[in-house]
Amino acid sequence: MLSKKIEKALNNQINAEFYSAYLYLSMSAYLQDISLIGFANWMRVQYEEEQFHALKMYDYLLERGGKVKLETVKAPPHQWENIIDVYKEVLKHEQEVTRSINELMSLALEEHDHATANFLQWFVDEQVEEEATVSDLLAQLKLVGGQGSGLFMLDREAAQRNFFPPAE
Ligand code: FEO
Repeated sequence: MLSKKIEKALNNQINAEFYSAYLYLSMSAYLQDISLIGFANWMRVQYEEEQFHALKMYDYLLERGGKVKLETVKAPPHQWENIIDVYKEVLKHEQEVTRSINELMSLALEEHDHATANFLQWFVDEQVEEEATVSDLLAQLKLVGGQGSGLFMLDREAAQRNFFPPAE
């Protein structure tokens, strides 16, 4: 049985994952609007990944006999200055998610809830990957100055991204 503290923290994180999904969907719409179709696809895949994260946590909460409490998801921004501005915000956001997952992990360990700590390890590893991917992409965007034929090439690459639910 989950402690009330863990149950509440997991519900908060479900909300945070849905907010991430919402934020990336909004970014996808912006990118499509400025004709970066490949990056719009990349961000839509990011949206699907975040939904997957939320549902993974939702399923775990139910499996452990917890109560799911879905809350209001706040509205994301819908306007950015340019693509570099977008990816700077993605990196900042993912660093914030990492902080939040680490806090959740610390709470699970404090509560001696090893099953939850074990479950959260997947998210800890996922955050390392997410931050690295976004950092690399941001560095490449800065390298090409966020414009011209360099941006066109990166956009074509971003168009290749697909969502595959990660193996459990
Ligand atoms: Fe659910 Fe991008 O972390």
